[in-house]
Amino acid sequence: MKYLIGNHKMNLSEKELKVYFKDLKKVAKNASNYVGVCVPFVYLPLANKMCKCSKIHYGVQNMHYEKQGAFTGEVSANMLKDYNCELVVLGHSERRNLFFETDEMVNKKVLCALENGLTPILCVGETLEQREQKQTNKVLKKQIVSALNGVKKEDLTKMFFAYEPVWAIGTGKSATCEIAKKAIVFIKQTILKLYGLTDENLVVLYGGSLNAKNVNEILSEPEIDGGLIGGASLKVQEFEKLINFKN
Ligand code: PGA
Repeated sequence: MKYLIGNHKMNLSEKELKVYFKDLKKVAKNASNYVGVCVPFVYLPLANKMCKCSKIHYGVQNMHYEKQGAFTGEVSANMLKDYNCELVVLGHSERRNLFFETDEMVNKKVLCALENGLTPILCVGETLEQREQKQTNKVLKKQIVSALNGVKKEDLTKMFFAYEPVWAIGTGKSATCEIAKKAIVFIKQTILKLYGLTDENLVVLYGGSLNAKNVNEILSEPEIDGGLIGGASLKVQEFEKLINFKN
């Protein structure tokens, strides 16, 4: 089984999402893979309503780490739980780069999500410049070590990780299977080492221009546990092809 999770970002209207969930429900019903969708906050009540009694896991793309207070424009874990939210994307490179989220903030969010029984999808990844300067492993290690600060060993399997090279996101230029595999193996080994573990069922997804054309090649690699999918998750007809991936 693979994990296929859509990240809708700031796309689709309520009207479009209603049709989307209706169609996706039918697809997910027969899917043997895990199907998830992360929507903008405002559509969480809709996801809650429409995904009930379906095989679709749903969530959002960010949250704040404080319980409550004077944080204009932010949304807390408790608010998400009011709508039975399950997944929350954390540390996405768009949040880090466009909204100045630091490693420290990402760490607080991961801890808060776990405390509240939400499943964080922790994103890490290097920029093109960092890759060219052979800094990839260093960057990944720093992001992982910092994000997991204070996270208990037993919580590692209550979260998903996503390797998302910044240069592959929304560019149409996905990483090769080899590059993604290498980074994902490094991520898994880094986490195991950090906790003094030899083996654990860690789930590490690949994200970055994954689509119907390259999904078979990339996901056929056993080390890659699934995908976090942006653009190609916006239309059920395309997302369906990823969801139906078979080894
Ligand atoms: P993309 O986005 O599939 O559109 O490249 C992936 C992501 O940002 O999670």
